[in-house]
Amino acid sequence: MTSVRVEPSSKVSTADVIVDWYAGAARNLPWRRPDVDAWAVLVSEVMLQQTPVARVEPVWRDWTVRWPTPADLAAATPAEVIRAWGKLGYPRRALRLREAAAAIVERHDGVVPRAVPELEALPGVGTYTARAVACFGYGSPQPVVDTNVRRVVARLVHGQAEAGNARTADLADIAALAPPEPERAVRFSVATMELGALVCVAGAPRCGVCPVRDRCAWRLAGSPAHTGPPRRVQKFTGTDRQVRGRLLDVLRAAAHPVPASELDATWADAVQRSRCLDSLLTDGLVEQTDDGLFRLPQ
Ligand code: ADE
Repeated sequence: MTSVRVEPSSKVSTADVIVDWYAGAARNLPWRRPDVDAWAVLVSEVMLQQTPVARVEPVWRDWTVRWPTPADLAAATPAEVIRAWGKLGYPRRALRLREAAAAIVERHDGVVPRAVPELEALPGVGTYTARAVACFGYGSPQPVVDTNVRRVVARLVHGQAEAGNARTADLADIAALAPPEPERAVRFSVATMELGALVCVAGAPRCGVCPVRDRCAWRLAGSPAHTGPPRRVQKFTGTDRQVRGRLLDVLRAAAHPVPASELDATWADAVQRSRCLDSLLTDGLVEQTDDGLFRLPQ
């Protein structure tokens, strides 16, 4: 990707402008409060991976009250965590989080590790989540790059309308912008995410209220349209994801194991329904009893 050289319009660094903007514009999200520990941050980051903030908030509150430490979650049954995951979607994340809790108990005496390689070794924790936990849970300055940050970097630094596929260079790009003071670098990480979530958004960016519009390579290049392949928009209606959700809804609500016939009403297409039930069994989200009934795994 070619970079457009941008002469800053003032001596204030881009990071400082973004951090100062964040001070006035940040949403008051519960997992950003200073008393929130690394475990609650890990829970929030896993929930936020594919789900909007508004849907995560109530579930995150329930989880952190019910399972305030990794040991508490490790002691829960899969059925309990799948039920408590509610309708956040992508429910394998709930099982991975429980496995991560067990690994934290086994390998780290029940304390969320601080080091990125140890975090990345936990089930369900990838490049982004590991750095987010180190940064927001432990105050360690880390380049934290989610989809929003990649879009900000694509525009601000590279003059491109949209970010391409995730690249290892993303971490270096954002590290190069970060301020040297550790505490400010942590704020810069969350501030850049917030800029991408609230202002430098995918569809119609709100450049009129952007604090770095006068030094944005994309704006300075005349806001050229995206030329690469179109962004993929996740479909939901009619997908296996929707069918799996319906099957799980029935099992979450059921106090006892249910016969297959009770699942028939969830979806008319029997082939798709059966494929989805099989995949839930394979994923360990559903189990079958000896007498052929279905339930959440105990
Ligand atoms: N604050 C810290 N991490 C966040 C995330 N993933 N989404 C929204 N706000 C956050």
